[in-house]
Amino acid sequence: MIYPIVLFGDPVLKKKATDIPEGEDIKELVQDMFDTMYAASGVGLAAPQIGKSVRLFVVDDHPMMEDGETGIKKAFINPEILEEDGEDWAFEEGCLSIPGIRADVDRPEIVKIRYFDEDWNEHVEEFDDIHARVIQHEFDHIEGVLFTDYLTPFKKRLLKGKLANISKGKVDADYRVKVPKK
Ligand code: NI
Repeated sequence: MIYPIVLFGDPVLKKKATDIPEGEDIKELVQDMFDTMYAASGVGLAAPQIGKSVRLFVVDDHPMMEDGETGIKKAFINPEILEEDGEDWAFEEGCLSIPGIRADVDRPEIVKIRYFDEDWNEHVEEFDDIHARVIQHEFDHIEGVLFTDYLTPFKKRLLKGKLANISKGKVDADYRVKVPKK
């Protein structure tokens, strides 16, 4: 099932999501999240973006890989960031919930994360570069944080009108969206 993607302005995107009870059957939800992400040509999608305030996100960053690099395709359930390391670097981020806006965000190069996969196997892994970037962005979603929260007050002011339009559903997106209720 492909879900509509919740747009900026919906309170679910600002809420800290809750853990999924361990052992719960989440395979269908994980598959739906991948399907929804692919339908929108995204490289990451967090459950709040389909209106579910639970700690789950999916990542497939293959489209961002250059020759010789290997992408990751994974579901992260009840993840916990254990450590961030390396130098902060800037990268222009976008978000399926904030179509049409991109901005540079600084994040540490390396992330160490503990999470469960869709079979409830626990993993502790370290990711760097683009993989870390996508994971950090998606992890923020389950904490109720959006990349626009990191922008300077000046940049925020510049984007105010655009963001207001998105929250009213005035977007140019080639995927199904859910407009926030007033
Ligand atoms: Ni996002």
